[in-house]
Amino acid sequence: MSDVPLNTPAEISPEAVQAAVDGALAAIAAATDTAELKAARSAHTAEGSPLAALNARMREVAPEKKAEFGKLVGQARGRVNQALAAREEELAAAETAAKLAAEYVDITALAPRARVGARHPISLLQEQIADIFVGMGWEIAEGPELEHEWFNFDALNFDVDHPARQMQDTFFVDPTSRHLVMRTHTSPVQVRSMLERDLPLYVLCPGRVYRTDEFDATHLPVFTQFEGIVVDKGITMAHLKGTLDHAAKVLFGPEAKTRFRANFFPFTEPSAELDLWHPTFTGGARWIEWGGCGMINPNVLRAAGIDPEEYSGFAFGMGIERTLMFRSDVQDMRDMAEGDVRFSEQFGMVV
Ligand code: PHE
Repeated sequence: MSDVPLNTPAEISPEAVQAAVDGALAAIAAATDTAELKAARSAHTAEGSPLAALNARMREVAPEKKAEFGKLVGQARGRVNQALAAREEELAAAETAAKLAAEYVDITALAPRARVGARHPISLLQEQIADIFVGMGWEIAEGPELEHEWFNFDALNFDVDHPARQMQDTFFVDPTSRHLVMRTHTSPVQVRSMLERDLPLYVLCPGRVYRTDEFDATHLPVFTQFEGIVVDKGITMAHLKGTLDHAAKVLFGPEAKTRFRANFFPFTEPSAELDLWHPTFTGGARWIEWGGCGMINPNVLRAAGIDPEEYSGFAFGMGIERTLMFRSDVQDMRDMAEGDVRFSEQFGMVV
């Protein structure tokens, strides 16, 4: 800071004024932050500073010299104040710049985002299958997964001792006296729909079914089917074939073909196994077994209070896991049950 003693000069002289100004300007230039500048301001302009002391001595100046010295001191104070203001601006700008640099946030950097995830392909495919039938004016129905034996077997024309009852390995639920089973297929919804809804009936029921099957690459003890039920006047097997052919082409592409192979189900007569052909299935162009179908057995119509002389109908049932397997070339069905999001993510939001 200034080397000018604070209680001097004793007299006002141009040299004394210049010395006070020089001291002040040196201190101002030396200040490296606003706090130091504040100290320089009070040391060189406030009471007790050389300039203030010179100003105070104006009283002692002879009247004829007052104007000259007044101007000298006034100009000196002006120069010092100007230097203070300029330095202050400089230091404030530097401090603001330093603060901005310290608080810098790179807003162009990617913020961490929530992962989008994926829906399960079975849910997606189930909705897509439902859409095909809704597009033809059908209704979507649901039935309970814990089902009464009567709906799952009896009303579907399975005799009490009929060997067909053992065709499907059933989870019977305790106490067995209540005759409850985890439904082994979606076919009980045929009966429920016929009992609950008005004719004609065009209904699709997708849903979960349960069998005491092994958990392996081609079997799951819990899987998903879609059941189709039509009851109307004059329904024939040609309507069944046309409907399934349409569904196959929408799901697998226009090259897809279907064929019936004679089979037996207690609730349909005649019954058929539905085969599906596609040129690009893994293993080449070939037929695969897709599901079961047939004309609703008159006994089933009767069990639901429908006159088989007046009405006829067809039904079909297909596995959705199997459909996904062939449609998206999934080699192991267990991937569909394990719930690993990496499996679902391969499908994203569209199957
Ligand atoms: N419910 C039979 C099954 O699960 C499939 C089927 C449905 C057959 C409708 C004929 C008619 O194997």
